[in-house]
Order: sequence, then structure tokens, then C-alpha cells
Amino acid sequence: MKKYVFYILLGLLCPAVMAVCYVSGVGCINAIGLEMVIGILSSVSALLAIKEYGGTGKPIGHWLSALIPLIAIPLIPVAMISHSGFEVFLARGRAPFLTIEGFAIAQFVVSVLMFRGLIFKRGEGRLMMPAIGFVIMSSVLRIRAKFINPAKILREIGLQKGQAILDYGCGVGVFTIPSSKIVGDDGVVYALDIHPLCIKTIEKEVGKRGLANVKTILSGRDTVLPDESVDVVFLYDVLQFIIDRGNLMEQFHRVLKPDGHLCATAEHLDVDEFLNAITKENLFTPVDRKGKVFRFRATSSSRPG
Ligand SMILES: C[S@@+](CC[C@H](N)C(=O)[O-])C[C@H]1O[C@@H](n2cnc3c(N)ncnc32)[C@H](O)[C@@H]1O
Repeated sequence: MKKYVFYILLGLLCPAVMAVCYVSGVGCINAIGLEMVIGILSSVSALLAIKEYGGTGKPIGHWLSALIPLIAIPLIPVAMISHSGFEVFLARGRAPFLTIEGFAIAQFVVSVLMFRGLIFKRGEGRLMMPAIGFVIMSSVLRIRAKFINPAKILREIGLQKGQAILDYGCGVGVFTIPSSKIVGDDGVVYALDIHPLCIKTIEKEVGKRGLANVKTILSGRDTVLPDESVDVVFLYDVLQFIIDRGNLMEQFHRVLKPDGHLCATAEHLDVDEFLNAITKENLFTPVDRKGKVFRFRATSSSRPG
């Protein structure tokens, strides 16, 4: 909820800052007017978004909260230049311009976080991310990939040539593609995601690179894999989306080979809640932690037969 309040504050600060700039002789009246309209519209959209937070309807308020600052970003210089002319804008308008643009960008970033919060709150399947949400998510995942070295993470958790890995909630394939290279021709990567656009993106990438060892699965629950068929079940930044974690753990336990590992990160979850979700039914025992990734072994006593 703090994000929503912060978003409204940012929206209201814009006309206030612009008014201060105007009084100090560096702002412009057009921009104050525009900022007031944007401030009011974005506050109303955030109030709508707060109402949507607990419900199940379409997230119109969230979309408006993201769109309003996005539209404002190019409009701010247009308002300033049309009022004072380009030369005055360059000479005296840069400070207010940069300040207000900074606020608008910050508001947009907060709106993305509001969306993220909504998705976590609503959980699996209830809010199928529309195309634009997917574009934002895939861009974030691709930027994040530049900082985390997915191949190194996969090697650290022990993924080897010839193994089978289930990349559960594979997103746009940040871990799928390096997994494919590590397991090689004798191994297999099952890339599973609930979102059709994720699966489409991976299939395109796999086709382009000619990776014959990647098999995609479009599913939000059932892995449709045979018993004891994978060496590694891998969930990176995914568990927070899953509501029925008990059911999923049973599936993971079923598809893992006896010496296989379930590897998962605790992103956006309390670590105790995370460990409890995985070990609750006594299906998995913690083994170790490699960086952000916790490894678990399937408890053999829980295996049928
Ligand atoms: C934050 S992304 C992480 C993607 C990928 N693991 C990575 O780290 O690059 C979370 C992914 O989980 C997927 N997801 C959410 N709920 C799911 C579910 N119930 N079953 C399968 N995938 C799910 C989303 O569609 C999204 O692609």
C-alpha cells in the first residue's frame, strides 16, 4: 500500500515543484497547468488502483497509473517550449524540466511496482498478464540477466552435461538457453510457463538457435512429465506467484529423480515462509544454499513403494 501513497505524493509534488520554479522565475505557467491536470488524474487513477488491489476485476486503475506519467514525459517539454520558446527553455527551463521529468519517471517506475504487487497479491492464473505487461516483464528480466550471470548460477547448483532440468516459470528463457548449452545434446530442458507469450518467445529463440534439447510446456500447474524424469527442478523468482504450493511440491517430488534437486529462490517471500512452503509436507529437505538459490533433496521415505 505504501507504493500507492508514494505514487500519489509524487503526482502531487510535480505541480508544487513547478509552481516553486515559476515563482523563482525559472518555470512556466503552461507546465504548472499541465502538471496540475496530470497530478489530479494520476491521483484519481492511484485511488482506483487501491480499490482494485484486493479484488479480481480488470486493473484499469493500474493501467492508467502507468500510462499517465508515460504520456506526461514527452508532454512536459512540449508545454514548456510552446510557452517560452526553445531558447528560453534551454537557458532557464532545464532545471525544472529535469526535476519534473525525474518525478514522472519515478512515478512510472512506482506504477510498475504497483502492478507487480497486484500480480503477487492475486496469484497464479487470476491475472493473466496482458501483452504490455509481458513486454515490461521481459525487459526487466533481460536487463536483470546482464547482472546475474545465469550460466554461473546453473553451474553452481550443480547442473551438468546430460541432465534433465525443469525450468519452472521460465519467463523469456534467461535460464532456459544457458541450461540448454550446459546439458548439451544428451540432456533436456523442459521450459514451462503459464504465460503463452513466454512460451512463444522461447520457441522463437530455440528455433533461431537450433536448440533441439529444449521442450516447452504451456501450463500453470501440471508439469505433464513422467515420474522420476528430471535431475533438477529450477524455480528462479517464481514461487511467490504460486498459491497452491503444496500441490506443486507433490508434483516436483514425483518428477524428480531420487538423487535430484529442487532449486528455488525466495524472492519477495519471507525466508521462513519460503522454507516452510517447500518442506511442509516433508517431501523435501534443505541441502544447502548457492548464492540466492536454495537446494533441496526429495525425501525418499515419502516416495511411494
Ligand atoms: C519473475 S518471472 C521469472 C522468470 C524466470 N524464472 C527468470 O528468472 O528469468 C516469473 C515467471 O513465472 C511465471 N508464472 C507465474 N505463475 C506461474 C504458474 N502458476 N505456473 C508457471 N509459471 C508461472 C510467469 O509467467 C513469469 O514468466
